[in-house]
Amino acid sequence: MQYVVTGGNRGIGLEFVDQLTARGDDVVATARNPSDARELQLLADERDIEIHSLDISEPQSVASFGRQLDGRSVDVLINNAGVLHRGGEPHEGFDFDEIQADFEVNVKGTLRVVEELLDNVAAEGGGKIVNLTSKMGSIADNGSGGSYAYRVSKAGLNMATKSLALDLEDDDIVAFVVHPGWVQTRMGGDGALITTEESVTNLIGRIDEAGREQSGQFLEWDGGEIPW
Ligand SMILES: NC(=O)c1ccc[n+]([C@@H]2O[C@H](COP(=O)([O-])OP(=O)(O)OC[C@H]3O[C@@H](n4cnc5c(N)ncnc54)[C@H](OP(=O)(O)O)[C@@H]3O)[C@@H](O)[C@H]2O)c1
Repeated sequence: MQYVVTGGNRGIGLEFVDQLTARGDDVVATARNPSDARELQLLADERDIEIHSLDISEPQSVASFGRQLDGRSVDVLINNAGVLHRGGEPHEGFDFDEIQADFEVNVKGTLRVVEELLDNVAAEGGGKIVNLTSKMGSIADNGSGGSYAYRVSKAGLNMATKSLALDLEDDDIVAFVVHPGWVQTRMGGDGALITTEESVTNLIGRIDEAGREQSGQFLEWDGGEIPW
């Protein structure tokens, strides 16, 4: 199977590249700066990994990436690249630059990649678009407030993914969001509950088993669904 993993140079993305190639899948991994992506380069020394430069917030970068994959079929597109800013708070003041930054990457960037690779995912029918979201994007689960930039962007990504699921049904594409758990990465921090290995092992299982029924769903890393 052919996978594309964005943000494949560290954290959850790197773990996806590692586990998928270890079991023999073909992976196109992207990084904003491939020459700085040391761990990914080391992995590529041992395994057949195609590394491409991609900044999902830059339209020209996404277009160039799309051209490089022109005519190729992609079975699973894993939109993993993302950023987290807090975005201030109402008493001290919002940080609208941070709110804009998270929306730019997590929503617009992800949709840019979907648009650019749509023909690739549709090529052989039954392709999957997997968007990495967060429980922090769940309105139902919001019990602590704050994190305006990140929460708003992931809630936006959730809504966009639900629409993708409906709009791409006739193309035989399934689209869904997954929450990876609270994971020990630069974003998740040292206090996070699970390792990238634990998270991604479970996520790959969920992605493998996902079919038409899961399209438009908000999947939890270790089973079940998360309320919107
Ligand atoms: N860790 C958690 O606990 C947790 C929980 C819920 C959801 N998530 C989601 O899971 C995904 C991966 O998170 P992570 O914990 O692995 O985060 P991470 O360690 O901070 O890694 C983020 C990845 O996204 C890339 N990226 C950021 N902006 C980009 C852009 N404009 N274009 C292309 N790539 C970009 C980064 O590249 P650079 O190295 O170039 O910056 C890096 O590869 C994210 O979507 C995140 O929101 C994580």
